Amino acid sequence: MAFELSPLPYAKDALAPHMSAETIEYHHDKHHRAYVDTLNELVAGTALAERSLEDIISITSKDAAKASIFNNAAQTWNHDFFWRSMRPNGGGEPTDGDLLSRIDRAFGGFDKLREAFAEAAKTEFGSGWAWIILDRGKLKVIKTSNADNPIAHHQVPLVACDVWEHAYYIDYRNRRPDFVAAFLDHLIDWEYAAQNLAHHVARKAA
Ligand code: FE2
Repeated sequence: MAFELSPLPYAKDALAPHMSAETIEYHHDKHHRAYVDTLNELVAGTALAERSLEDIISITSKDAAKASIFNNAAQTWNHDFFWRSMRPNGGGEPTDGDLLSRIDRAFGGFDKLREAFAEAAKTEFGSGWAWIILDRGKLKVIKTSNADNPIAHHQVPLVACDVWEHAYYIDYRNRRPDFVAAFLDHLIDWEYAAQNLAHHVARKAA
């Protein structure tokens, strides 16, 4: 069965003015769709076509001959995750107790986490992603290049910011730090991060 472009979890203009409908129109309907369409073309008629997106990412991540499949599968997954990492009237600080205590343990407070995330997002050279992840149970901020993602490294992603230029150039031109600040102050969905954390904790306990 072919992979499909997941619909946005909100209206295209729901994140304005921090992310415009025009940005989302291009980013979701053109960039994201192109990754999904290319992935379908690349795996058509192969055994991979029957696997989950996560399986394809894991299987192809260490195989240089399958780099195109990895890139398009990971970007399909990353963008699904990115759209869900934001919500209208997002931003601010998390309220979930487990997430907050892990932030305190790993970073010594929310402000330090925010600083680390902003730094990772700003300093990723070229195209890539900033993430908050669990790595063997420990909360970390990481950045990845191009399509690379935490699943390929057996890490658990909680929330992500796309820092490819296509994510911000229409609204912010070259000012990536302003986009990252808007993401953290107005867009990031901490409830989604808390849900991903709770889901992982429940799965480990099962
Ligand atoms: Fe993107």
